[in-house]
Amino acid sequence: MSKKRIFSGIKPTGELTLGSYIGAIKNWIDLQQEYQCLYCIVDMHAITIRNDPAVLRRRSLEQLAQYIACGLDPEQNIIYFQSHVPQHAELSWILGCYSMLGELNRMTQFKDKVKKGSENLNAGIYTYPVLMAADILLFQSDLVPVGEDQKQHVELCRDIAIRFNSIYGETFTIPEPFIPKVGARIKSLTDPLNKMSKSDDDPQGSVFLMDSPDSIMKKFKRAVTDMENRVAFDPEKQPGISNLMTIYSSATGKSFDEISAEFDGKGYGTFKVAVAESVIELLRPIREKTEKLLEDKSYLAEIYRNGARRASELAEPTLKLVTERIGFVPKG
Ligand code: TRP
Repeated sequence: MSKKRIFSGIKPTGELTLGSYIGAIKNWIDLQQEYQCLYCIVDMHAITIRNDPAVLRRRSLEQLAQYIACGLDPEQNIIYFQSHVPQHAELSWILGCYSMLGELNRMTQFKDKVKKGSENLNAGIYTYPVLMAADILLFQSDLVPVGEDQKQHVELCRDIAIRFNSIYGETFTIPEPFIPKVGARIKSLTDPLNKMSKSDDDPQGSVFLMDSPDSIMKKFKRAVTDMENRVAFDPEKQPGISNLMTIYSSATGKSFDEISAEFDGKGYGTFKVAVAESVIELLRPIREKTEKLLEDKSYLAEIYRNGARRASELAEPTLKLVTERIGFVPKG
């Protein structure tokens, strides 16, 4: 039996955070044996906001290096840049003709941007979910690991696929959102009700994978806590402390009970330093390996070229089927 297929993507805007690692990449590592996985660096989604070209290029390569440094095996997984596989754009145009204005108008991410009156409200922001649907459907993906905030986009992807299939017959696998069992969602250190984000306005709230040990320590020392003075897991009443416990548990493998016992009567200061130290040790090898990988651009190039070639080969039969079904003349 062939393995189930997983597709996921992260935009190369902003630096990857401890939240990206614990909430997403770490889970990907556990999936690589059991599933056939494609991990795409979605640079075409990234240009829906303005980027300095040099920064976008640097971040894209850095993200690739970080994936490898975190333990994603480039042989077992297909790791590549979205812009290197033109079938994404081709299928996206086609699917756009099967996506309704009403559906796109309902996307909360889009509505939020309109409501905020963001400048540069371009058409790419509007059709962003269509490109995302193309990413997923191009590979007949079964499962799509995403956070809560992207579930609506996966729902839309399913609706588009179901619509297409009902017009032309079985063409696309209907994907499911996949929330991993240990899908710890890491929150901001300064605002523990919101997620730790790579595009946060407040860099003190996020720990970045490339942060120095010094800066990690400082950020944890400043982390928002509460007045309860006990290390207990209670996300409602003690969101800050619960977030620190989640981080510490991910970094050390200790359970919440063990953590509560370890810091019973010790005060938040001691606890914060212990969390910081565990994160420093967790991230040290990742940062060092990333730096090393970035020194050898030809090795990285081999990985992304290989990834794009494999992704393109997998995509081709789907695109051929789709174009046949809708009535384009075969290239021959
Ligand atoms: N929109 C996703 C995000 O912002 C990134 C993304 C693009 C993605 N294409 C995807 C995620 C396909 C999963 C599958 O997080």
